[in-house]
Order: sequence, then C-alpha cells, then structure tokens
Amino acid sequence: MLANKTIVLGITGGIAAYKVADLASKLTQAGARVEIIMTKSATEFITPLTFRSLTHRTVVTEMFNVNSEFSIGHVALATAADVIVIAPATANIVAKIAGGIADDMLSATVLATEAPVIVAPAMNVNMYQNPATQDNLAKLKARGFIFVGPGYGRLASGKIGMGRLTDIEEIIGTIKQVLGRSGDLAGKNIVVTAGGTQEAIDPVRYIGNRSSGKMGYAVAEAARDRGAKVTLITAPTALSKPVGVAVTPVTTAVQMKKAVVKAVAQTDVLIMVAAVADYQPKSVAKGKIKKETTGAGLTLELVKTPDILAEVKGDFIKVGFAAETEDIVANARKKLANKQLDIIAVNDVTSPDSGFGVDTNRVTLISHDGKVESLPLMSKREVADRILDKVVGMLTKKPQSQMRRGVS
Ligand code: C5P
Repeated sequence: MLANKTIVLGITGGIAAYKVADLASKLTQAGARVEIIMTKSATEFITPLTFRSLTHRTVVTEMFNVNSEFSIGHVALATAADVIVIAPATANIVAKIAGGIADDMLSATVLATEAPVIVAPAMNVNMYQNPATQDNLAKLKARGFIFVGPGYGRLASGKIGMGRLTDIEEIIGTIKQVLGRSGDLAGKNIVVTAGGTQEAIDPVRYIGNRSSGKMGYAVAEAARDRGAKVTLITAPTALSKPVGVAVTPVTTAVQMKKAVVKAVAQTDVLIMVAAVADYQPKSVAKGKIKKETTGAGLTLELVKTPDILAEVKGDFIKVGFAAETEDIVANARKKLANKQLDIIAVNDVTSPDSGFGVDTNRVTLISHDGKVESLPLMSKREVADRILDKVVGMLTKKPQSQMRRGVS
C-alpha cells in the first residue's frame, strides 16, 4: 500500500531526528518514494548523507540550491506529495506552520501543499506545555493536520513528561491510514474479531487455545488501509494494538458476544477471525483450586459457549473462519450454511506453515454462491486482502445478499 506513493518526510532540529532514519528506511523498503526535506538545524543532529543513503534520493536542505532537482519550483514537492510527514516536529516548525510562515523549504512546502500533513511532535516538556505551543497545535488540529504523539516518557533533558517522538510503527500506521482514506472500503464500517478467548477455571487458570491473533490483526489492518472504519474486538494476544483502529479488548466468549452484538448494530461487515472457545467451565472457582483438595484428579464440567457467528443476524456481510484438520471443504460448506455466512475462509491447521502462530496461511475461500477458491501459501496480510476483495465485490451487490437473508 505504500508502494509508489510519494511521501515527503520533513525532519526538523530535535534529538529525535536520529530515530527518523529508521522511518525513512522502512518506508523506502516498503516501496515508497521518500523525499526528505531537512531544516538547517536538523542537519546539526544527523547528516543529509544518512538519509540520502537510506532513500537513494537527493535530500533537500535549502530552498535556493542550484544543484538540487527541486530548486527551480520550490513547490514541486508540495505538488508531488501523496502525504507529508513532519517527524520530529519541533515547537518552532509547529509555530511557523500555524503562522503561515514559509521561510525555508519545509515550511514553504507545507504552505503550498494540498496533501494531508501528519505531524509527529517531539520537544522539551516545557516547550510542549507552553501555551504558545498548545495554541499552535490546536490551530493546526482545527485546520485538519493529523497528529501522532507525542508520547510520555524520558526526554533528552532527563525530565520525564510529554514530548517524546512517538513510536516509528505508530507513525507508519498513521501514514497507511491516511493514504488509505480513499480506498475501496472508504466509508464502510467493519467489525473484526481476533485472538483466542480464555475461559476461567479459577482466578489463576483458564482454558485457552493456540490462536495468536495474527490473522485477525492482519484483517483489521488491511481493512483500515483500504479506508474502512474498523472495530477490532480482540481476545488476549501478544500483538501490539493496531494504529487507527478502535480496539475493544475482551477475554471470554460471552464477553466477545456482548461486544460483537453491540458493534454490529452499525456495521457493513463482520469478519469473525477469533478462535472462540466452544466450551466454558460451568462455574468458576472463587479461589485457586488446591491440588491437595482434589484427590487423584480433577473433573471439570463444561458447558457450551454461545456460537456468536451463528447467533448474530442483521443487514451486514458475515465472514467466518474455520480451522479444520480433515474433510476441509465439506466441513466448511456445512458451517457456511449453518451460520448463514457470505464467505468462509478455511485453513488446514495441520500444516506447519499455515494457521496458528505463523505469519503465513494457506486458505480456501468458499462463498455463499458455492464458489471455491484455494489460495496458495501467502502472508496473512495477503490472505486478508483477498478476503476483502471478495467483501468489496459483495458490498457492491448488497441488495442480493439482503434478499438472501430475508432482510427487508
Ligand atoms: O464452528 P467453528 O468453531 O469451527 O466455527 C468457526 C467460526 O465461528 C469462526 O469464524 C469463529 O470466530 C466463529 N465462532 C463463534 N462462536 C463460537 C465458536 C466459533 O462465533 N462459539
């Protein structure tokens, strides 16, 4: 999604400038054309050569340099940009933009652009809290500038407070979200579930499963990058929260059902990727069950959990996942019918390169019209996009899907 996009990365004079070398590198590796503009003070912290080496492009440091390919039309980058990112953004650049000043290449480019501008502030805590800076930030927010960070933590001055440059992954997530705003899912609401639910036995133990949440998070991020407004209802995972997605954390199947029912009241699509427990202990012990009290063994009585996917109904596209070990297509077809799904994505979890924990998946997609598509091994992100391609196709033919379920 970053491939062939022109990202103008403006770097200003803060110590966090060194961290942005990683950002420039990651964006370039993802296929973006990264055009760097550095202010004079930024070049005191890190050299233009670093960025030239990482981006393989000329780094602009002056407005009137006859050797620069951008020296003639100083608004060339303003026009070429799909998005402008200022990281780190000092109090000074924030003030200049707020005041409409254009006395160097970066401020002139920002003043001249129609592209969205993402600002990642990083500064001394007192500078950040100064009413002048706060007023300037508020002005830019009101004008539609997009802010990411700053974060809280230890600052270069040794003080603890607001003013740290936010994580690079957070900036990349924001760039993707902004670039995806006009994607084929723009304006659509999508609810995604992810992770494996945990059903408590006592305050210490639970019944869980091997789901890592990777597939569900990939679906949520892919939908975000295509312009959707995404709600991610997630059971516990070790993954970091995706940027630009509304996250509802849950633990049990019952909690997940409650969150799903609430979220689908306003959705166009529900994609249930979560591995939901099929059984939960009939009762949860109040205290830790002591092995000294249970004799030779312990018998747990389990009761069924709600089948969320089968039970939630409404005017939205329903996509389910199925982890199968045998008769894959036949079993998935049954689930598609029983749970009244539009699409079921089924994976063979017996294969080591597919399913739990890994970054790749081998999936067969079955749609309600009977079409079966066996996808080759691919990344979970690619699988997510293939599912969303089908969803987009169905959304454009939505009246039929409504008729099928008898929704008036
Ligand atoms: O029936 P099975 O568990 O194989 O179905 C898998 C699909 O149903 C997944 O999409 C899963 O998220 C969903 N599911 C559910 N509630 C359950 C069990 C599974 O919504 N209790």
